[in-house]
Amino acid sequence: MAKNKSLALLLLSLLVVHSSLADHRNHRIFDITHSITSELPIYGSKNGLGHFIRLVHSIKNGSIANESEFKLGTHTGTHVDAPSHFFQKYYDQGFDVTTLSLKVLNGPALVVEVPKDKNITAEVMKSLNIPKGVRRVLFKTLNTDRQLMHKTEFHSDFTAFMEDGAKWLVDNTNIKLVGLDYLSVAAYVDAAPVHYAFLRNREIIPLEGLNLDDIQPGRYSLHCLPLKMVGADGCPTRCILI
Ligand SMILES: *[C@@H]1O[C@H](CO)[C@@H](O)[C@H](O)[C@H]1NC(C)=O
Ligand SMILES: *[C@@H]1O[C@H](CO)[C@@H](O)[C@H](O)[C@H]1NC(C)=O
Ligand SMILES: *[C@@H]1O[C@H](CO)[C@@H](O)[C@H](O)[C@H]1NC(C)=O
Repeated sequence: MAKNKSLALLLLSLLVVHSSLADHRNHRIFDITHSITSELPIYGSKNGLGHFIRLVHSIKNGSIANESEFKLGTHTGTHVDAPSHFFQKYYDQGFDVTTLSLKVLNGPALVVEVPKDKNITAEVMKSLNIPKGVRRVLFKTLNTDRQLMHKTEFHSDFTAFMEDGAKWLVDNTNIKLVGLDYLSVAAYVDAAPVHYAFLRNREIIPLEGLNLDDIQPGRYSLHCLPLKMVGADGCPTRCILI
């Protein structure tokens, strides 16, 4: 009897191990990071990123190895914002990218598509009916259809949050990570008020410049790991959805 029971337990645990392995194999990894290239658009610039990396030691010139250095703005391509980005007091207090919660940057996330004819207002937020428990949302907008992240020249008419949409999100949801498919979560005309609303409590992380080209709306597991760069008010990050 005891033997049968332990055999049954063994079979059960093998089944559990097998199905979790199978789960892992079936899960696709979607890279939602834009490649950092010289053609990448930069906020407010006509010319894009331009030359950002150069060899300092090269095999061609007699060195044993190639070694490059790069220079990038902290808000280049797919990146996160720190509270110090829009608040002088948080800058002084050291709330840089190293203080962003890895728990917020990693976990279940919802990808939602927003109406194409509006920016993200309170009315739009209300109409999305995002379930109360959701903590991470990536907003797929007209920016993806317009391929804006693939155009070198900055387009100020991109779709993003208006002040009332950001305030509505803060007051009515548990969302702690706000992702968007262009260089800012804030519409150009509301850049400061939207960042103030999101960053004021140091709880919400804006995730900007996402590549949602191949992403269908739905539930995923999000994983982002920005570099641990002390003093930085933002930082490029690799992000994936599983
Ligand atoms: C190393 O640098 C040389 C230029 O000195 C370049 O031609 C070559 O492609 C580089 N190799 C790699 C692996 O990057
Ligand atoms: C190699 O050295 C030459 C001469 O100093 C310099 O002009 C060139 O830029 C260097 N190339 C690389 C890849 O370091
Ligand atoms: C969103 O706001 C920008 C100004 O920040 C404006 O140019 C654009 O037309 C708006 N987009 C839509 C879809 O209304």
